[in-house]
Amino acid sequence: MSVNKKVTRVTTHTLQEMKIKGEKISMLTAYDYSMAKIIDAAGIDIILVGDSASNVMAGNETTLPITLDQMIYHASSVIKAVGRALVVVDLPFGSYQGNSREALNSSIRIMKEAQAHSVKLEGGKEVVESVARILSAGIPVMGHLGLTPQSIYKFGTYVVRAKEEEEAKRLLEDAHLLQEAGCFAIVLEKIPAKLAARVAKEITIPIIGIGAGSGIDGQVLVMHDMLGINKDFSPRFLRRYLNLHDEIKGAVQRYIKDVKSLDFPNEKEQY
Ligand code: KIV
Repeated sequence: MSVNKKVTRVTTHTLQEMKIKGEKISMLTAYDYSMAKIIDAAGIDIILVGDSASNVMAGNETTLPITLDQMIYHASSVIKAVGRALVVVDLPFGSYQGNSREALNSSIRIMKEAQAHSVKLEGGKEVVESVARILSAGIPVMGHLGLTPQSIYKFGTYVVRAKEEEEAKRLLEDAHLLQEAGCFAIVLEKIPAKLAARVAKEITIPIIGIGAGSGIDGQVLVMHDMLGINKDFSPRFLRRYLNLHDEIKGAVQRYIKDVKSLDFPNEKEQY
């Protein structure tokens, strides 16, 4: 982090204080320099370089294909634009599962090569050893429970998770385990609002939700979804703040028309 910038940076401690004060945490994804610069200037608290880049940037059906090198590329573009927000980078599928040594090595690459501020990984009990090992190198870790897209082929669908009592109980236990392992925050994805509120009440670290209701400490959305760039994805939890798909298409159509009709460039737009 640059010491010359005058802005007060959001740190994991800031987030903890926000939870204590009841101040809600805002989080959005970003994958490139230009968009990260805009959302950081807007005052977002956390920027997640999510492995959703696999879907929205690369056009893959799932988050599984994105590689550690590709995540580092996206993260290093984002980090150059950010002066205030805490930048969290997803550990991609295959870079940490089942091997805490590999989890640590992947996290070190993200911190060193992208100069990120922290990492995120999916799972509960099964990743606790990795969380502890990553933390032992001084790298802050965010957890992710509920709908964990890297396990889509185990779940089979993207439906709401932990609706049944047994899965809800397991999720609550996992949240406690991640907290005890030292995670600084946990993302809860697509679970019943009542359960998410219970987790946020029992757990002292910030709980940030996507499709997890309002009774928690913060909210996260995928930027391309909330800006309406992606029209194909319309889950109930998504609020669209713009219809950029149509705005951009309209602008491009006007440009094409101007080029074809020789309206662009005009006298003032040439040398
Ligand atoms: O990759 C991502 O964008 C995420 C969010 C959905 C939380 O993990």
